[in-house]
Amino acid sequence: MSGQPRSDRPRFDLGSIAYGGDYNPEQWPEEVWPQDVALMREAGVNLVSLGIFSWARLEPQPGVFDFGWLDRIIALLHEGGISIDLATPTAAPPAWFQKAHPQVRPVAVDGTVLGYGARQTYCPSSPEYAEAAARITAELARRYAGHPAVVLWHIHNEYGCHISRCYCEQSVAAFRVWLEERYKTVEGLNAAWGTAFWGQLYGSFDEVDAPRTAPAACNPAQQVDFRRFSSDALLECYRRERDIVRAADPVVPITTNFMAGLTDNLDLWRWAEEVDVVATDHYLTAERSDNHIGLSLAADLTRSLAGGGPWLLMEHSTSAVNWQGRNIAKRPGEMARNSMAHLARGADGIMFFQWRQSRSGTEKFHSAMVPHAGTDTRHWRDVVALGTRLGKLDEVCGSRVQAPQVALVWDWESRWGLDCGNKPSTDLGFRERIDAYYERLWHLGVTVDFVHPGADLSGYRLVLAPSLYHTRAAWAENLRAWVRGGGTLVSSYFTGVVDENEAVHLGGYPGALRDILGVRAEEFLPLRSGQKTRLASESAAVPGGSASRWAEDLHLDGAAAVLRHADGPAAGCPAVTRHGFGEGTAWYVATAPEAGTLTAILRAACADAGVALPVGRPEGLEAVRRVAEGGAEFDFLINHNDRDVTVPLAGSDLVVPAGRVRVVVRTS
Ligand code: GLA
Repeated sequence: MSGQPRSDRPRFDLGSIAYGGDYNPEQWPEEVWPQDVALMREAGVNLVSLGIFSWARLEPQPGVFDFGWLDRIIALLHEGGISIDLATPTAAPPAWFQKAHPQVRPVAVDGTVLGYGARQTYCPSSPEYAEAAARITAELARRYAGHPAVVLWHIHNEYGCHISRCYCEQSVAAFRVWLEERYKTVEGLNAAWGTAFWGQLYGSFDEVDAPRTAPAACNPAQQVDFRRFSSDALLECYRRERDIVRAADPVVPITTNFMAGLTDNLDLWRWAEEVDVVATDHYLTAERSDNHIGLSLAADLTRSLAGGGPWLLMEHSTSAVNWQGRNIAKRPGEMARNSMAHLARGADGIMFFQWRQSRSGTEKFHSAMVPHAGTDTRHWRDVVALGTRLGKLDEVCGSRVQAPQVALVWDWESRWGLDCGNKPSTDLGFRERIDAYYERLWHLGVTVDFVHPGADLSGYRLVLAPSLYHTRAAWAENLRAWVRGGGTLVSSYFTGVVDENEAVHLGGYPGALRDILGVRAEEFLPLRSGQKTRLASESAAVPGGSASRWAEDLHLDGAAAVLRHADGPAAGCPAVTRHGFGEGTAWYVATAPEAGTLTAILRAACADAGVALPVGRPEGLEAVRRVAEGGAEFDFLINHNDRDVTVPLAGSDLVVPAGRVRVVVRTS
């Protein structure tokens, strides 16, 4: 699986950084529209996403279409020189559709039938929804294909956002078909799911249900398959609309907006192959003071989905959102910092939700480019300043982030497996471990890619696989061959434990990777809440420290101990090991080391891998380089501190003021 758009698809290329946002003109009287266009020009907006929730306005009655207003706003935008990312409006089925087809309402895991009056009220497997969505998509595509202002098609909106899994009868029927395609026979399904356990044997596919709320947890393989199926069901919805648009318009690229790193409902490796350009939405966790690290992670993940190529930030916020607990507003400089950080990590477009802050409705307290308070505001001046700045960075378009030497293995299926309950500890979590490792690497100044476990690893020196719980034999072999050939692997606990069907790799943990790591664990020894263990050093490379969450009754089987538990349930057992395997090295981190210890482990692993860490970089300064095909380099220096920092550059030192961003351009 390459997990990236194919190169034979139409390319998105505005020739400058895309700047703009979701534009919902139907929320405003038409007199406002010319003002909108004038303000967009003032702000340097060159792209807007149009019509995302407009189905009810475009098809006010079944089969009756009203495109007049859309024609008028498209003409106005075109005259104003603003390009359009035209959306199929299928994320907001109209009320008439809901009344006519009550069976289309999605059903939650506990059987609750969800109502309408919000958005996204549809079952992804509903034939009635498929038919209606195809009809409006075809009308829209036919009408606007070839329009010179339409430079991108935006299918639907955030698949899997509100509706990720539907448990209605139509979904169950589609799930059975999906299972039959996967397993061919019911015996195959019984074997894969291990249904001998708790007497869950099925006599036919018709007997299988969705893993809904039940007296106890449903079979974990059934749960993971339902998540695979649900991601695929939504992908079918996307493909249906994409193919209709493609038939009408073979030239203009097509995308949909992911939520990479924010939600985990879709297997985006599979989705990325289906879009012409990867686009994503990102929102900060407002209350976290280190939320810029989560932003970097999401941007790195998105770039990786794009195969290292440019991608679009389709939405973020100018300031506060309205859907978190405390919606903390962005302070001066923060919007620019966030935007430039996405740009630094490969984005060729910086877009927002939304252009004009709504007066009514659920999102009226969500920030926008034009705020309620109008244009005589610091907020608007910042929007204009950002547009002006991006307008001067045309040469950045199409450049790529300097190829990272380090990769983190990312797998949505492992996450689904870890989430389905009944694990040795509630402290286990795919995202929890990824975040722990990513955060340390961020502080070390290492830019990382994310890779699918089956991906070609040959371009990397260091690969980290924290809590890759599902490890298929083929994926283990991929890692094995790469380490044998000279790679350095860092694997954490709860990697390599089960296969794709949630069946344990037997013979001691971590079953799939034991030979590579040179260890064997007899038993998991999870720690109590808040419990810490002391770690004693057995190697000059990593000083002693402490750890929490996890320990194992671990034995060396070729590896050397780097750290040992000095107390706790695993006292005397290795906690961190290092194993020479073929030409390479494999580390096993069998606990959750505190930050300083994890940093020391990663430093030592980088040394093994020959990954040079940046020196002299001030703490809190994010530095990422993009390189253009012609050799020009763009160094993005983002100061997350509230004090100025000095960056040593060849020739002279550069001061990056507190909270500000500098872009250093070097042409060859
Ligand atoms: C998502 C949606 C937008 C809007 C924003 C608010 O990204 O795509 O329509 O609701 O959230 O943050």
